[in-house]
Amino acid sequence: MAKTVLVTGGCGFIGANFVRLLLETRPDWRVINLDKLTYAGNLHSLADLAEHPNYRFVRGDICDQALLDSLFQEERIDTVVHFAAESHVDRSITGPAEFIRTNITGTFTLLEAAKKQWLDSGNKDENCRFLHVSTDEVYGSLGATGFFTEQTPYDPRSPYSASKASSDHLVRAYFHTYGLPILITNCSNNYGPYQFPEKLIPLVLNNGLQGKELPVYGDGGNVRDWLYVQDHCEAIVRVVEQGRLGEAYNIGGHNEKNNLQVVELLCDMLDEKLGLLLPSGEPRRSLITFVKDRLGHDRRYAIDADKIDQELGWTPKYTFEQGIEKTVTWYLDNQAWMDAVIDGSYQQYYAEMYGKKL
Ligand code: NAD
Ligand code: TYD
Repeated sequence: MAKTVLVTGGCGFIGANFVRLLLETRPDWRVINLDKLTYAGNLHSLADLAEHPNYRFVRGDICDQALLDSLFQEERIDTVVHFAAESHVDRSITGPAEFIRTNITGTFTLLEAAKKQWLDSGNKDENCRFLHVSTDEVYGSLGATGFFTEQTPYDPRSPYSASKASSDHLVRAYFHTYGLPILITNCSNNYGPYQFPEKLIPLVLNNGLQGKELPVYGDGGNVRDWLYVQDHCEAIVRVVEQGRLGEAYNIGGHNEKNNLQVVELLCDMLDEKLGLLLPSGEPRRSLITFVKDRLGHDRRYAIDADKIDQELGWTPKYTFEQGIEKTVTWYLDNQAWMDAVIDGSYQQYYAEMYGKKL
């Protein structure tokens, strides 16, 4: 069925992969990408789609109520897929304020806009959907065993996860209080093309290519469940199309690895694909440097994704070995994308591309 989708944060890592997936697989959906273009927003990631007839980019802030109201009216938005957020735990430790503003106030502002347009206006449309993309980090930290289910009590432990938990609660409150047609997804750590190199996997790939140190926090034993971004984006489409209103769905990759395992694997893959380029002639594993641990570092995340499997028939297609092979190949084939991020030139692209038009 045709839809007009507001994707927030579509110039970020997951958002850009999601916009791509929609334009490739849903020819009758119109996609409006609203993004503030913070340091994490990168128009290069969607440059080839800028002129796509079903696509419109709007630079703007999800905290801007007037902008949201006019976009909802003008475009007759019937579906929201809300990615926009401050997303990096380390930044939330050194500067939490922007996390509170964007993740909590921004989500609230977006909920208000959807409520105004969908409920208060009297134009109630049964097909409207508001999908909030959230994280497994809201559930806290696991010991050596166990999995997060949708029933696991919230126990966020970083400013980032606390801000996402808060936004999840607001989204759920708009369902119970006003009947806003919401859905929530809580996923594990994504990896794949277009990820900003502050996150573990692209950081290690970039540093490994340049022969720089590979920082491993603490003892490297912290465990994450790695989800290939394309699998995640397909799961989100499934939830938009078939999810039960008011429900949350956990999305995981069934790929638990500790950080040292991930870093060592990436070192070995780069050595194998590129040869030993280090002046010392040593393998890239010699670049691994154990550094001071992250404050409040969650030890283990692991997702039980049975609900989305049983209710909606979604399971990940990619094993970690397949996903990481695609990811490493993508970064090697797209070094210009990474170079523009590292030298900062990606941030000038907005003026070059849209300066005259907007
Ligand atoms: P990202 O940091 O790569 O991208 C965030 C995007 O949001 C950027 O394009 C940025 O410009 C935009 N943005 C930030 N503040 C904004 C504002 N005030 N108004 C409009 N746009 C704004 O993030 P990501 O890794 O793609 O994550 C997307 C979503 O998925 C986030 O909500 C995050 O919490 C969630 N999530 C991510 C992961 C992961 O592994 N990356 C895991 C679980 C959940
Ligand atoms: P990250 O990619 O920041 O995602 P998150 O904190 O949301 O899980 O980090 C993934 C794991 O890797 C986490 O346990 C922290 C660790 N890590 C390092 O050991 N070194 C690094 O340089 C980074 C960025 C992360």
